[in-house]
Amino acid sequence: MRVRTKKLNSDYDWDYDPTTYVKDNYALLIPEDHHLSRAAIHALMSKTNHTPGTLKNGLHIGIGAVPRGSALIAPFMAHPRTGATITMGDIGQIKLDATKKLMTNLRSNELGIWQAHEDDMAAANPLWHGAFQAAAHLSEVKELDMFKLRENAYDIATAEHVFESATQDREEYKSSLRRFFRSVKPGGIVHMAYVVGSEGYTADGKKYPAYPVMPDEVVRYASDELTDIQNFFTSASGQMREKDDTHGYKGLGVLVGIRK
Ligand SMILES: C[S@@+](CC[C@H](N)C(=O)[O-])C[C@H]1O[C@@H](n2cnc3c(N)ncnc32)[C@H](O)[C@@H]1O
Repeated sequence: MRVRTKKLNSDYDWDYDPTTYVKDNYALLIPEDHHLSRAAIHALMSKTNHTPGTLKNGLHIGIGAVPRGSALIAPFMAHPRTGATITMGDIGQIKLDATKKLMTNLRSNELGIWQAHEDDMAAANPLWHGAFQAAAHLSEVKELDMFKLRENAYDIATAEHVFESATQDREEYKSSLRRFFRSVKPGGIVHMAYVVGSEGYTADGKKYPAYPVMPDEVVRYASDELTDIQNFFTSASGQMREKDDTHGYKGLGVLVGIRK
């Protein structure tokens, strides 16, 4: 049997207050965010097997009160009056409450720090005008463990900086990725952004783990479950948030693919 030397997801208390994490990481739109949004929008628009405005079941896992992923997939969703939803999942009541409060604000079009992110997305493609508010109207926030996602449940799924930022263990990282990919129906769209080379980070004054993944490794694992993969890597701009705590951080990646 393999002996685990690295800390697992369950070794951590995930019920942290995301307020300072969000402020530290997203109040300033850094070049990495701009590049990731551009690459995601370009890749999503190239997946011509789905027309914007048509999908019913969306997933955003590990949202942590950060609505970027939901806003990126929102233009592909049908109108909420058709019953379309984006299930926004995370663990930890404080984070779920913060996400619900954020959705209330976004529904009233009070975007706050997210306005700059939306303006940047809309500059890439006008379909993303109003994407944060649209995501909030589609939102269903609930407790959801990424290791227990249902198979073949969603038409489109997103996660930003989640799987590599939730464990130090490679096998556990791989198994959470596989679960995420398999939660999407065959032919459905997967979008994920990831931190490259990170060994950990701080949130609410506590230390959290990371698995220092590289872009070619993400593509290798994704290839088992996805086809038509586009992967993009942007190196660290030097304007990174958490200036004193960037252990190993080399930049950010984005991957978009279609579930086999
Ligand atoms: C680094 S944060 C990323 C937050 C946000 N998505 C972002 O883009 O900044 C990692 C997130 O994964 C969540 N998480 C950790 N373990 C999880 C699990 N087993 N199931 C669901 N979410 C989990 C954490 O609660 C946290 O919100």
